[in-house]
Amino acid sequence: MTKWELTLSEIDLGQEEIDAVLEVIQSGWFTQGAVTQKFEKAFAEFCNARHAIAVTNGTAALHLANWALGIGEGDEVICPSLTFVATANAVRYCGGKPVFADIISENNLTISPQSILEKITPRTRAITVMHYGGYPCDMSAIKKIAADHNLAIIEDACHAVGSSYNGESCGAIGDIGCFSFFSNKNIATGEGGMLVTNDDELADKIRLGRSHGMTTLTWQRHQGHAFSYDVTDLGFNYRIDEIRSALGITQLEKLPRNNQKRNELTRHYRQSLSKISGIVVPFDNHPGESACHIMPILLPAGTDRQAVMSAMREQGIQSSIHYPPIHKFQNYQDNPELSTDSIPLTEAVCLRELTLPMHPLMSTEDVEKVCNTLEASLYSLKVDIA
Ligand SMILES: Cc1ncc(COP(=O)(O)O)c(C=O)c1O
Repeated sequence: MTKWELTLSEIDLGQEEIDAVLEVIQSGWFTQGAVTQKFEKAFAEFCNARHAIAVTNGTAALHLANWALGIGEGDEVICPSLTFVATANAVRYCGGKPVFADIISENNLTISPQSILEKITPRTRAITVMHYGGYPCDMSAIKKIAADHNLAIIEDACHAVGSSYNGESCGAIGDIGCFSFFSNKNIATGEGGMLVTNDDELADKIRLGRSHGMTTLTWQRHQGHAFSYDVTDLGFNYRIDEIRSALGITQLEKLPRNNQKRNELTRHYRQSLSKISGIVVPFDNHPGESACHIMPILLPAGTDRQAVMSAMREQGIQSSIHYPPIHKFQNYQDNPELSTDSIPLTEAVCLRELTLPMHPLMSTEDVEKVCNTLEASLYSLKVDIA
């Protein structure tokens, strides 16, 4: 097993999390209840959204979003391929077809409004955007396209807790926003997720869908507020629990400070990486506020990325790839119904992208070390960086 000196991500955990979890355990009530309600209220306020609905993970959030919008057989949802596979799989869970649009450029890895326009057909029902790395998509253009073509917008905001665009919180700009609290995210609860929406009807549908379509919950019956329930929809069990919600409340309190730290580290990375010629550092001068979830760079075209990653690993530095493009995965390639036209920018960038360590426990010295190691690795591989 590799002994890392610097890992890709680390969680800012302290006594606060231990106390919060202990309190839940001592309360004797583990399943979704008052602590979850408190987490949802705090999260809705943080995003300035009318509703926040906590769920088991980000994938469940994306599934519920597509389901609540009524995506079904024959429907198309336009989404990026440069994202985690769950963004597209969630469409397929509902019987719909993900249609992949390209990214904007080497500098802006988010979904291209122009490419979205080119992919619209009479079957298109929605657009799912993903705020890559926490950098907001071009939501003005995307909202206009959605309005002109009567399409819903789902925001995959799993990277973007605390990001904003024109003063609006990412996740609360489209019809439904989806967040993940997986361990590598800016808010980490182990597994966990959240949907936000400003639409009362969608919120009601999502709340029912989260819990089997049941009209009352165990928690309400425990409180003596109900004796029985009806089932009014074919729902799921996507409920979060009180232990994770307690962690979420604590992590949310730390988020502004930790996102500020990520921003400072990103600025430092940009300065240091600018000294290595041949490297592209995307999202230069990007509009809006970024949660700086990850630190992506593009290696010079043709670089043996795996050799760079191995050379960095030898020095104890973990790196990663965000992402292998979804449309090239075997499960997508093997399915003729999911075949897609070429999306050349995505395909070119995916071969060059390398993700460097980024988390709020890092120091600027750590950033220097990563950049020096990267430069030395490229040099040892004789990559033409001059
Ligand atoms: C962009 C994106 N979408 C969706 C997900 C799925 O979230 P989860 O792992 O909580 O199911 C993730 C997290 O891994 C993600 O990064």
